[in-house]
Amino acid sequence: MSRRPQLRTELPGPRARALIERSDATVSPSYTRDHPLVVESADGLWLTDPDGNEFLDMCAGIATTSTGHCHPQVVAAIREQAGKLIHMSGTDFYYPVQGRLASRLAALHPVRGERSRVYFGNSGTEANEAAMKLARYVTGRPHFIAFFDAFHGRTGGALSLTASKSRQRQGFGALLSAFHTLYPDPYRLGPNATELAMERLHDLFRTVAPPEDVAAIFVEPIQGEGGYIIPPDDFLLRLREVCDTHGIVLVFDEVQSGMGRTGRMFAWEHTQVKADILTTAKGIASGMPISCTFASDDLMRWKPGAHASTFGGNPISCAAANATLDLLLGGLIDNAARVGAYLKERLEAAIGDHPNVGDIRGRGLMVGVELVTDRATKQRASTMRDQLVMDCFYRSGMIILGAGRNTVRFSPALTLSEAEADVAVELFSRSLHVLSGH
Ligand SMILES: Cc1ncc(COP(=O)(O)O)c(C=O)c1O
Repeated sequence: MSRRPQLRTELPGPRARALIERSDATVSPSYTRDHPLVVESADGLWLTDPDGNEFLDMCAGIATTSTGHCHPQVVAAIREQAGKLIHMSGTDFYYPVQGRLASRLAALHPVRGERSRVYFGNSGTEANEAAMKLARYVTGRPHFIAFFDAFHGRTGGALSLTASKSRQRQGFGALLSAFHTLYPDPYRLGPNATELAMERLHDLFRTVAPPEDVAAIFVEPIQGEGGYIIPPDDFLLRLREVCDTHGIVLVFDEVQSGMGRTGRMFAWEHTQVKADILTTAKGIASGMPISCTFASDDLMRWKPGAHASTFGGNPISCAAANATLDLLLGGLIDNAARVGAYLKERLEAAIGDHPNVGDIRGRGLMVGVELVTDRATKQRASTMRDQLVMDCFYRSGMIILGAGRNTVRFSPALTLSEAEADVAVELFSRSLHVLSGH
């Protein structure tokens, strides 16, 4: 029989409750902790809390523990590296594990140009900061363009690009100069989605952002926090053409969609359109902090001192990333494609006809279910979405997250098995039926 969540106490249990109280008293209140979940240990897709409850993790620490929690090969690589060298600051010195990772990543040819280079940071937001600085450095232009509902990070520069929730920007005053425009959501905009998005982009050029002053356009090839939205196939190509016409740097933010999640190493590979700069983080080292900003040798021509970070590309994260790459290339990307298609198919079979399910979409293991109050009007069922996420937790011990205003996302480890996908679909549809009364 396949493994299932085990709820042995009320949630949170007594030990978890005490830990939450202690944490809440001292940790920054800016965190958005919807689930009262304390994770003490984890393996694969399974989490254990201090009260002995076991949960099915269909979010993977927000699309990050790509090889599953504590994969033995990743743990071994971390242990081995920790015994040899923990830190030496790659900004000032060299160490073998970083060079090895850089050349393996460059060999993936993630961006345009013959030879790729990589800048190492610690998080997605840092990868985008580096991309913004590099784009300004090479173009000498001031402005950026990004898309509504995009999430690119929370540090000052990247926050200027983020247009996901206004509370993420509230109180932080003037940011960098970034303009936002429409992302082509086929479910909401229909077959002309790309056309509509391109019209709006040209409106920006015509009214507030002369293209000659735009350093870069930042785009997620699949919008993550915005609701797991897959744009029409021609969209990236159209953006590529606009950027080429005006000498604008095209940046793909693959912090969430990269590193095998969509069943290819990068989501752009589904359309074969390459960016000038690509950023990635989350899944690259199975949960160890590291991020990459890729650009061609020609583009990444900034001078020593232009950008660096003490911890960026630290030895242990690099070792974890090398082990993660072995696993991704050794079968997990294929597994994401195969089991992702299976998950989507099972969701369609179980809830595809449900009156509150507007759209089921996804590539690989980046799967979203958009909830509506009525399929004809497509009105967003945001409250129901929030309730559903919490019901899955309290009723079944399954961890899923929302994305966008009314979408539930499934972003499990790429090790997900068909049996685990079956359990997830069963628990999700049970909560949906209970909550909706259908
Ligand atoms: C597409 C995208 N870019 C950037 C970020 C920011 O990454 P981090 O939280 O590691 O700074 C995220 C995080 O969710 C993301 O999804």
